[in-house]
Amino acid sequence: MLEVDDLRVTYGGAVQALRGLTLRVPDGEVVAVLGSNGAGKTTLLRTICNTLKLHRGKIETGTITFDGRPIAGRDTSSIVASGLVQVPEGRRIFSRLTVEENLRAGGMGSKDKAAKAAAQDRVYDLFPVLAERRTQRGGLLSGGEQQMLAIGRALMGAPRMLLLDEPSLGLAPRIIGQIGEIIREINTQGTSVLLVEQNATMALRVADSAYVLDVGKVSLEGPAQELAATDAVQRLYLGHGAGQEREVQLAVARSTKTLSRWTS
Ligand SMILES: Nc1ncnc2c1ncn2[C@@H]1O[C@H](COP(=O)(O)OP(=O)(O)OP(=O)(O)O)[C@@H](O)[C@H]1O
Ligand SMILES: [Mg+2]
Repeated sequence: MLEVDDLRVTYGGAVQALRGLTLRVPDGEVVAVLGSNGAGKTTLLRTICNTLKLHRGKIETGTITFDGRPIAGRDTSSIVASGLVQVPEGRRIFSRLTVEENLRAGGMGSKDKAAKAAAQDRVYDLFPVLAERRTQRGGLLSGGEQQMLAIGRALMGAPRMLLLDEPSLGLAPRIIGQIGEIIREINTQGTSVLLVEQNATMALRVADSAYVLDVGKVSLEGPAQELAATDAVQRLYLGHGAGQEREVQLAVARSTKTLSRWTS
């Protein structure tokens, strides 16, 4: 279980990107974090993986634990070794390396050859298109295939928990649907998932539970199906009642209640 408690993060000592964020990703679940541009979604993942310093960011207060052990501030490599692997925003694959070389790069943290071969087989089973293109350069893949490669590369580290930063970004609806199904399949195979998304339709379909992030704070949380049915999420994120966005944003900001069936 990943537990984030009362996390406050600033950039350059001034911008307050996270303002007391608390969330949990239980083992075996898919948990979605929804939020619009600038809500702090990427900052949350940077903080968990300890890449915040590269962006002049700093944890002011708060704790992050994985399986009960504090991980805030630990080396990124040791966080990866503990089983937390991130797929960063914007699918940063190596465009001049082949598909296979990209995957091998994802497995470099481990010396266990058999485990790496098993991980590669798993990736090619999940994404047959990557097996077909294994000798092709990453940069020649379509946007959807590049996202699959980015996810595949992360899976090469055999993570126990996968952190995904807006995998649907810039993709056609049909491909977004496929990515959603693959996330479910990865989860069924035993990997927990923290899914950061602006695409609430996909995220709430895939997730067990979800949090809505509003300028650095959780404004709503609960089981994904219940959240999908709330007026605020319907109007703000599911495209019903466009034009009332400001009003709804205020309603979300006021509403900090936990939904009834939320247990944990
Ligand atoms: N390196 C940085 N330096 C200063 N401010 C930053 C930096 N990175 C992010 N911020 C600010 O922190 C806040 C949260 O940004 P973040 O990138 O986490 O949002 P996000 O939810 O991922 O948005 P998006 O959906 O656009 O990716 C924003 O106000 C942003 O401008
Ligand atoms: Mg982001």
